[in-house]
Amino acid sequence: MSDLKQQAALAAVKLIKENSVVGFGAGSTIAYLVQGIKDVPALAGSITTVTSSFNTKMLLQQSGFVVKEMGDLGEIDLYFDGCDQFDSRLNALKSGGGIHTREKILASMAHEFILIGDESKSVEKLDGKYPLVVEVIPDALAFVMNRLQQLLHPSECRIRLSDRKDGAVITENGNFLLDCRWTVFPEPALVNEKVNGIPGVLEHSLFVNIVRLAIIAGPGGIKIIR
Ligand code: 5RP
Repeated sequence: MSDLKQQAALAAVKLIKENSVVGFGAGSTIAYLVQGIKDVPALAGSITTVTSSFNTKMLLQQSGFVVKEMGDLGEIDLYFDGCDQFDSRLNALKSGGGIHTREKILASMAHEFILIGDESKSVEKLDGKYPLVVEVIPDALAFVMNRLQQLLHPSECRIRLSDRKDGAVITENGNFLLDCRWTVFPEPALVNEKVNGIPGVLEHSLFVNIVRLAIIAGPGGIKIIR
């Protein structure tokens, strides 16, 4: 699927105008996008970049881009990101990286948020393969776990643990991540409303009504979904 991700990324390069402020998310498709922009020196030399991802920040810096801090910007022109899965209404799950809070801020700050990836990401309905990730303030951990159970009945809800160090994964914001799973993923609008309403939740990894455009590459070519 790698060359399909690269094809989607190269199609995305064409949407970027010189001198614009461009946001980047995380993952392998975004790495192809950074390389694709770097290969157009006039574009690469003129844009200002910002990113939700530590790894992408290092890549942008090593590639010679001007990189701004998120907190210094109130709006940006475009934000590109990958996802784990998205449905026919462009509801997207961005759970793997655990940085969905920063991703959602940049996506909301952008005049246009564009998903890029290969066609394996596209499903009619979110199917439960990926968890909903909920970023939780430590003092609210037990309360949020109880409330999630009462409101949405996940079959499993676990604190994300680090696989390189003993203990829980702690986010850039000093919080825990809960990975919540269902055998049948509930209605996205309901999940969004219920989880956003729980005190102590900072953000969750389901993007409802935020994505406007997806650029998806498959064996048959590039598909633009609006
Ligand atoms: C993490 C994400 C990433 O954007 C996604 O996992 C990237 O995928 P890929 O490496 O296939 O581009 O949403 O939460």
